[in-house]
Amino acid sequence: MSDYKPAGSVRQTQFSVDPIFTNRWSPRAMTGAQIDAPTLMTLFEAARWAPSSGNGQPWRFVYAQRATETWPAFLDLLVPGNRLWCANASALVVIASRDTAEHNGKPAPTHSFDTGAAWMSLSLQGSLLGLVVHGMAGFDWVRAKELIGLPDGFSVEAMCAIGYPAAPETLPEALREREKPSDRKPMSQWLFEGKYVDPSL
Ligand SMILES: Cc1cc2nc3c(=O)[nH]c(=O)nc-3n(C[C@H](O)[C@H](O)[C@H](O)COP(=O)(O)O)c2cc1C
Repeated sequence: MSDYKPAGSVRQTQFSVDPIFTNRWSPRAMTGAQIDAPTLMTLFEAARWAPSSGNGQPWRFVYAQRATETWPAFLDLLVPGNRLWCANASALVVIASRDTAEHNGKPAPTHSFDTGAAWMSLSLQGSLLGLVVHGMAGFDWVRAKELIGLPDGFSVEAMCAIGYPAAPETLPEALREREKPSDRKPMSQWLFEGKYVDPSL
């Protein structure tokens, strides 16, 4: 049985929403068990069907699986606080994107936005399968680009860890306390009709 505890039951929504959105969260406790290839590919298949400007599909995902020779270098990209819990991930992924449109080489202003949509599809699919999918900005961005051999004209966007969930008790104490679903700002702080209003006014 999966240790993934969907977060929806403890999250308060302002309006009703499909639980797919509130169930997804970012735990850190993972078992380190290998994810079989078809299951891992199911997550990338979900990313594949994300919408993008002009259907340009600017996202690129470069992954390393635990117990392979690429793994240690991927793990080493992470800041120590992330390396601690990611040591028990099953896969580490560098998420990147192409900055320009393939058909004319012009700057693609939505490349990061499109890639964010692909990452979200991946994370929702992972959640539906009872897997941990945890986004990360805490890594060495320059070294990540070098490590995966990303050419000029492409940008690193983020990393994520994917794995089978474990009980929170398996985490070091400091992380154990944080192993609970987070809340969100009220919509009044970022949703406006007609005109933007500085929420601090
Ligand atoms: C782009 C991105 C970068 C993140 N960076 C980190 C990180 O470096 N370390 C970490 O522990 N969590 C990281 N997170 C997880 C966020 O803290 C988490 O998604 C946020 O608090 C909302 O919680 P939830 O995903 O459980 O709903 C990151 C998430 C995203 C989307």
